[in-house]
Amino acid sequence: MKIELAPSILSSNFAQLGNDALQAIEGGGTLLHVDVMDGHFVPNITFGPPMVKALRPVTKLPLDCHLMIENPDDFLEQFAEAGADMVSVHQEACRHLHRTLQHIATHGMKPGVVINPGTPVETLIEVLPMVHHVLVMSVNPGFGGQEFLPLAVDKIAYLAELREALDLNFRIEVDGGIAHDTVAQVVEAGADMLVAGSAIFGHGGAEKNAREFLEVARAAVPAVQG
Ligand code: DX5
Ligand code: ZN
Repeated sequence: MKIELAPSILSSNFAQLGNDALQAIEGGGTLLHVDVMDGHFVPNITFGPPMVKALRPVTKLPLDCHLMIENPDDFLEQFAEAGADMVSVHQEACRHLHRTLQHIATHGMKPGVVINPGTPVETLIEVLPMVHHVLVMSVNPGFGGQEFLPLAVDKIAYLAELREALDLNFRIEVDGGIAHDTVAQVVEAGADMLVAGSAIFGHGGAEKNAREFLEVARAAVPAVQG
């Protein structure tokens, strides 16, 4: 699997969001991670479909929308119309997870499922064949800049094992506290889509930060995978 960086615009300077995003892309980012929060599922409010619409002309790269909201079905059409490419929903927020993932796909977007640190991988087994990606949270969602929770590493490794055992090809994404000092262990475990907010936009230039981050990440790819 190709190692990809998904810069999280949550940590960018909103007054110059498009420019910040382009710098992170220049440094090697190949997806843009868009954190949608509703103040109910998580204790923070960010942005919604209008932000996706505003970002759409900035880049042709996929917009990876992470919905941290209650009732995500109510908004799928709006995200599709705004130009979202990938939409992930939380297992914990979906009463009918299978149906919601079907809806994402029927709207022409790539479905992903997310689990919080307290949610076991086993709760996803039935839906693994229908997802494009599984997002393992390595912090409790709601805020950027939190400390990485190492329990995510075993969950990533378990998902990689399941992928092989079940002969599936979903991507494994990880989100929260991923930085130059934590990225190697998640890549070694099998993560291939790496979300990073403060590591890219926190200090210094986003382009340089992204390039250095990817160097560390790619150096950690297990030898057998190349
Ligand atoms: C947290 C969000 C993350 C956040 C990550 O709830 O889902 O995508 O932007 O930020 P860092 O990389 O700073 O932990
Ligand atoms: Zn996120």
